[in-house]
Amino acid sequence: MTTASACGKVILFGEHAVVYGRPAIAVPVSQVRAEAAVDPLPAAGDVLLETPDLGRRYWLAEADSSDGIAHLVRLALKELGAPARDLRISVRSALPIGRGMGSGAAVSTAIVRALCRHFGAHWPPEKVSALVFEAEKLYHGTPSGIDNTVIAYEAPVYFVKGQPPQIIAIGAPLPLIIADTGIFSSTREVVGAVREARGREPARYEALFDAIGKLVDTARRHIEDGNLPALGRLMDENHRLLQELGVSCPALDQLVEIARQAGALGAKLSGAGRGGNIIALVTPERSASVESALRSAGAASTIFTTVTSHPRGE
Ligand code: PMV
Repeated sequence: MTTASACGKVILFGEHAVVYGRPAIAVPVSQVRAEAAVDPLPAAGDVLLETPDLGRRYWLAEADSSDGIAHLVRLALKELGAPARDLRISVRSALPIGRGMGSGAAVSTAIVRALCRHFGAHWPPEKVSALVFEAEKLYHGTPSGIDNTVIAYEAPVYFVKGQPPQIIAIGAPLPLIIADTGIFSSTREVVGAVREARGREPARYEALFDAIGKLVDTARRHIEDGNLPALGRLMDENHRLLQELGVSCPALDQLVEIARQAGALGAKLSGAGRGGNIIALVTPERSASVESALRSAGAASTIFTTVTSHPRGE
């Protein structure tokens, strides 16, 4: 059996505006991972796909055309010059689905890595990322590409759609608490809602995207300098701009507020919004109290992670 894994991610700054060409910053969450295993399945004549977390087991040849995993497996095998038969691919993920942690991109990245390893190929992160992007399009419609990029590189990235990512050096470790509203969020739907709203009020939305883009550039400098208090304030400001975009919701606003009251340096929703996660930047001294305040306030789960320049690789 050949196995490989891929990390989760959170967007620190710039979600939604990144779909419209502005920069965004995302970081890997290395302790929460998706894992894929590839086994020979002699004489099967097809590829068996198993996702035990979702209770699914099906043949590649029978997969629906909207099935992102099947699409990805076909593309990867073609690119590897390997026939689509006599294999079993099994995927497990510790990443919550629909919470802005990149679960789809992580599953896809783990599959591509496991297939590469099985067939003895060594693809650079940009090639893995490009292939995973194809599956992301099926899941999300018009993804910016930030999820597949940060996950395939497993490094903090400054990302602009259509451009190679820039890896950011982290000046001081960033202790983050990720807290889940427990509400499923469909990235495709929320991105679609923003597109509609922008169609109705283009000037207002473009101005909001510009403000977010400017904030992202300032945040990058503070990340590199290790200025955590300034970063916290920018997270608060980014959340306010996301509220104006119409992608927050009462549950997200409540968790953001609780985190701030409990002593976080700043907090914001992360990912598509209208559910999913918030992230709070904390000091090491305050991390336990912020985490317990979020849990008492009803967060479905919390993850404590520290972002550094050298996250654990695959
Ligand atoms: O996949 P999520 O929920 O982290 O959202 C991705 C972030 C968006 O900017 C909203 C969409 C995109 O494709 O960048």
